[in-house]
Amino acid sequence: MKTRITELFGIEHPIIQGGMHYVGFAEMAAAVSNAGGLGIITGLTLGTPEKLADEIAKCRDMTDKPFGVNLTFLPVVNSPDYPGLVRVIIEGGVKVVETAGNNPQQVLPYLKDAGIRVIHKCTSVRHSLKAQSIGCDAVSVDGFECGGHPGEDDIPNMILLPRAADELEIPFVASGGMADARSLVASLAMGADGMNMGTRFIATKEAPVHENVKKAIVAASELDTRLVMRPLRNTERVMTNEAVERLLEKERKLGADLKFEDIIEEVAGVYPRIMKEGEMDAGAWSCGMVAGLINDIPTCQELIDGIMAEADALIRQRLTGFIDA
Ligand SMILES: Cc1cc2nc3c(=O)[nH]c(=O)nc-3n(C[C@H](O)[C@H](O)[C@H](O)COP(=O)(O)O)c2cc1C
Repeated sequence: MKTRITELFGIEHPIIQGGMHYVGFAEMAAAVSNAGGLGIITGLTLGTPEKLADEIAKCRDMTDKPFGVNLTFLPVVNSPDYPGLVRVIIEGGVKVVETAGNNPQQVLPYLKDAGIRVIHKCTSVRHSLKAQSIGCDAVSVDGFECGGHPGEDDIPNMILLPRAADELEIPFVASGGMADARSLVASLAMGADGMNMGTRFIATKEAPVHENVKKAIVAASELDTRLVMRPLRNTERVMTNEAVERLLEKERKLGADLKFEDIIEEVAGVYPRIMKEGEMDAGAWSCGMVAGLINDIPTCQELIDGIMAEADALIRQRLTGFIDA
């Protein structure tokens, strides 16, 4: 399948693995890229330029296909060494950067000068247009369904994707709630040039996370995510568990008085305990509603090959069949 996204990134299939904290290590990115998609290392999980440089080198040893690095701009007090991270991305010969969080304007000139393609992930049409206007090459349009941070507008992809298609000139991928061939074909029909998946890629053989995480996603239904931190305007969609229910109880009790310090136990530093140790009740971890569509733990190759084969059949048989009937 050839789309503006496969052409832009030099990949075989229009499928991207979004950056994921404590999931997007070299093993994950290389497995997706080797299967013909675009794998992405999560820059902030590595934290320092030295560690990110090592991870990029490791990924290069594992694949000769293109892969990317995610740079998430967070509203934090102790800002990570973004200039250092950008330097090792450029020196490491990375060809694609996925930016997310705040406006990536501060790093864009350096990335563009180095010939790096930039895809910015955002949750609204206005932020997509902003990304286009500052020179991003593509956008990842993340709907309300998504695992992680859906923003504060709550617009699901049935509306958000065609709205983005109506306004944008640069190519975009559909993100949030994507799991299979139906997701891909629907995204293409709504004007996207491919899809980005997060949660689906965690439940794969190569995902470098504890088996408990994969099992939790397979066991969960579409009813098992919750939105947390809305009172802080930092909404995150997470898998429900004991810690999340406790956090939500604090939100109900404290209302508008809620501060980050009140929920620090449930959200700060919990990712290594969950993703590495498999302590599933340690705190709040991002997970999409799409968990309801995930029932197996395939290899990335099996997952992507299956999606592309079924997409072909969907388009050629089911859809064409309606017209030819
Ligand atoms: C466990 C997890 C961690 C994530 N961490 C990040 C992150 O650090 N930076 C980022 O830009 N997006 C992050 N995301 C969002 C994904 O890149 C992607 O946009 C999202 O998962 C898409 O929705 P889906 O899960 O329904 O496929 C994370 C998602 C998950 C599930």
